[in-house]
Amino acid sequence: MKSRNPSVPLSENQHLLRWVQKMADLCKPAAIHWVDGSQEESDALSAQLVANGTFVKLNEKLWPGCYYARSDAGDVARVEDRTYICSLSKDTAGPTNNWVDPFQMRRKLKEIFAGCMQGRTMYVLPYSMGPVGSPISQIGVELTDSPYVVVNMRIMARVGLPVYREIDKAEKRVVPCIHSVGHPLKPGQKDVPWPCNPEKYIVHFPETREIWSFGSGYGGNALLGKKCFALRIASNMARDEGWMAEHMLILGVENPKGEKTYVAAAFPSACGKTNFAMLIPPAHFSQQGWKVWTVGDDIAWIKPDANGCLRAINPEAGFFGVAPGTSNTTNPNAMVSLAKNTIFTNVALTPEGGVWWEGMTDVPPAECTDWQGKKWTPAIAKETGAKAAHPNARFTAPASQCPTIDPDWENPEGVPISAFIFGGRRATTMPLVYQAFNWSAGVYTGATMGSEMTAAAAGTIGKVRRDPFAMLPFCGYNMGDYFRHWIKMPRNLTETPRIFHVNWFRKDKEGKFMWPGFSENMRVLKWITDRARGRALGRETPIGWQPRYEDLDWEGMDFPKERFDELQAFDREAWRAEVLGQEELFLDLHDHLPKELIYERQLLICRM
Ligand code: GTP
Ligand code: SPV
Ligand code: MN
Repeated sequence: MKSRNPSVPLSENQHLLRWVQKMADLCKPAAIHWVDGSQEESDALSAQLVANGTFVKLNEKLWPGCYYARSDAGDVARVEDRTYICSLSKDTAGPTNNWVDPFQMRRKLKEIFAGCMQGRTMYVLPYSMGPVGSPISQIGVELTDSPYVVVNMRIMARVGLPVYREIDKAEKRVVPCIHSVGHPLKPGQKDVPWPCNPEKYIVHFPETREIWSFGSGYGGNALLGKKCFALRIASNMARDEGWMAEHMLILGVENPKGEKTYVAAAFPSACGKTNFAMLIPPAHFSQQGWKVWTVGDDIAWIKPDANGCLRAINPEAGFFGVAPGTSNTTNPNAMVSLAKNTIFTNVALTPEGGVWWEGMTDVPPAECTDWQGKKWTPAIAKETGAKAAHPNARFTAPASQCPTIDPDWENPEGVPISAFIFGGRRATTMPLVYQAFNWSAGVYTGATMGSEMTAAAAGTIGKVRRDPFAMLPFCGYNMGDYFRHWIKMPRNLTETPRIFHVNWFRKDKEGKFMWPGFSENMRVLKWITDRARGRALGRETPIGWQPRYEDLDWEGMDFPKERFDELQAFDREAWRAEVLGQEELFLDLHDHLPKELIYERQLLICRM
């Protein structure tokens, strides 16, 4: 078969053709490649990445269809301080976003994008967030000079020919996204394995629905369908159109009667969404017929349907999951998902052409090459503390490979949502679980969420910061208006979902996690879904409803009541500090803050 000429456009949409030409004139790539999304194309791009030293092909027997990449040491996570929301007015972006005047930013971008793709190919990558053709789905086109981005996006989103057909119908607005690693090549200049630029810009224009990303090749900075589109731009669309774009996993709990209850949960980056979404119930639950089904692990688009029921889709097609800590013990479903056709970035490479990361096995390999290409042994690690894998090392794996993927995960109508769960990493204060008294109290819980910072973003790891709805880095407009949007949601609903807060990370005086987490989280999840259906008991506390010891199913687990009471304890002094700690966010947002949240805070203070 004669291979096609990739420079021939695959769309007839005049807007698209003109925009591609305009961007090519600006960025001056050596060639243009229209991505068709086929397996042959992906294989060819991967081979090219191997030739350039970006990819190592893993041992085909151990890791079929898998590739390994190491990033530049300065390009390992999202860069929140280089992420901008350029709305016309600063007030629309709000105090939690970096704002620059859009005219000024456009001038700057024209400058840095001029000639930025010299010596490289510009790929035209059409993608659909959500199943192609679903009424909830949205379309974007990413122009990128990174073939690494193309092969990752092919896993994370639906790409290629079917999407051109959608674009040619011209029924949906297309979000233009341009991405460059910012590393042009002079004639004859040799490329580096991970091209990038120390100067980074991740820029969003919410009014014109555009994304411009420069200087990074990593994750959320570069795979523009994910955080940039599906959260920052989509949150603007959702506000305007009455739906929600959330940093949430979606899972379905099936009980022994075969009845399914779907919940969506917002935990900040690297706080357990992937693990919770793929939870395998403890043996006693599984034997009774309890099952957890995975719909998504990072992003949820949620819309009221014609009957006033909230329905959610996972706009993504893959998992971009944290590797360290993922094992056959903690997350067997993830281990199966990533066993083939997966791209690993910044984990360690083993001598037999496999991958390894901290927490994958109890016994580390005798020797491997770490994420920076240096020799790593357990002895070296002991001496220097060097990690084999970067803490934000990730796998890019197709969602369809997950053993518990929900039969309805690609249902264009979405799945019905009965409860929302908020949570974070909190060593103190936050109990294992409580249920908010009602919707506005629940919105207050989400709005005041805190979490210890992780390696998912550049910053101080371990420091508690307010991360409302786990959306602090992802809400594309004024956080106060976003809270109001949440407050108003039930107006279009016939049934209001229940709202819960969980914390798997409370520590005892010795600094040890008090709760074993992972599978055992099923005990909490059962209580939550039963509560959402009005079936389980609890007791009223100052912060909400909490299960008593006897309200949870403890079969097969040895967890004494005293320990549970400690885990669930309401610590008055700590909550005093918590409520005071909310002050800063409330002050920053004061002129956009819904009254309900001020009243809820007052009510909590009174109850305390
Ligand atoms: P993003 O992809 O960054 O949005 O993160 P995520 O929320 O999907 O995070 P993920 O599920 O990958 O969790 C990251 C870390 O949390 C891993 O190191 C896990 O081992 C750890 N983790 C997840 N669930 C639990 C739990 O129940 N208990 C404890 N102690 N750790 C957990
Ligand atoms: C997160 O940081 O929340 C992620 C990873 O899911 S990234 O896509 O890189 O933002
Ligand atoms: Mn995330």
